[in-house]
Amino acid sequence: MLVLPKGVRHIPGHLDRGEQELLVQDLRAVVGQAPLYRPEMPRTGKPLSVRMTNCGELGWVADKAGYRYQDRHPVTGTPWPPIPDRLMTIWTDLSGDTRPPQACLVNFYDAKARMGLHQDKDESDFSAPVLSISLGDACLFRIGGVERGSPTRSFRLESGDIVLLGGESRLAFHGVDRIYPTTSTLLKDGGRINLTLRRVNT
Ligand code: SIN
Ligand code: MN
Repeated sequence: MLVLPKGVRHIPGHLDRGEQELLVQDLRAVVGQAPLYRPEMPRTGKPLSVRMTNCGELGWVADKAGYRYQDRHPVTGTPWPPIPDRLMTIWTDLSGDTRPPQACLVNFYDAKARMGLHQDKDESDFSAPVLSISLGDACLFRIGGVERGSPTRSFRLESGDIVLLGGESRLAFHGVDRIYPTTSTLLKDGGRINLTLRRVNT
């Protein structure tokens, strides 16, 4: 058994195939209104390998000026579309927080994309967990402690899995080491979608 840091929950296969397909339909509508774009690293402007968009009142963006939440898509300049009801229900069922999520970051990973070890700390309130949903190809997810140097462990996330980072692990370092291409038939052109539902402020 893999022992996870306190405050981390991994719920394998929480969403069945039918629910995953309905979520993908919802996301197609979101991406139709708020297209995926390629964010950049602060200062250097180096593009990230992951493409992103958001739904909700606020969205997380990254560009030369830094990391932040804003209420508009950085390319189209229009407000983010609302968070689909299906995601709101998942949050209500699993987050343990009575307040609704304010942001849902949508990450799309192609076969080569990855995400370096980081903390989710651009929010001003850390009392709610970050709720993460995986769809499509599997990945190797890495999680550590609240300090960059603390030991990490990694495990595979499959389509339909949910991870919660809350409590003592709300600020745990985490990242995606690699994608396992062609491990899911959910997305017709392959790849992995990760959704993270968040509270941003009190
Ligand atoms: C993230 O930290 O924003 C994404 C994590 C994941 O893709 O599982
Ligand atoms: Mn993160």
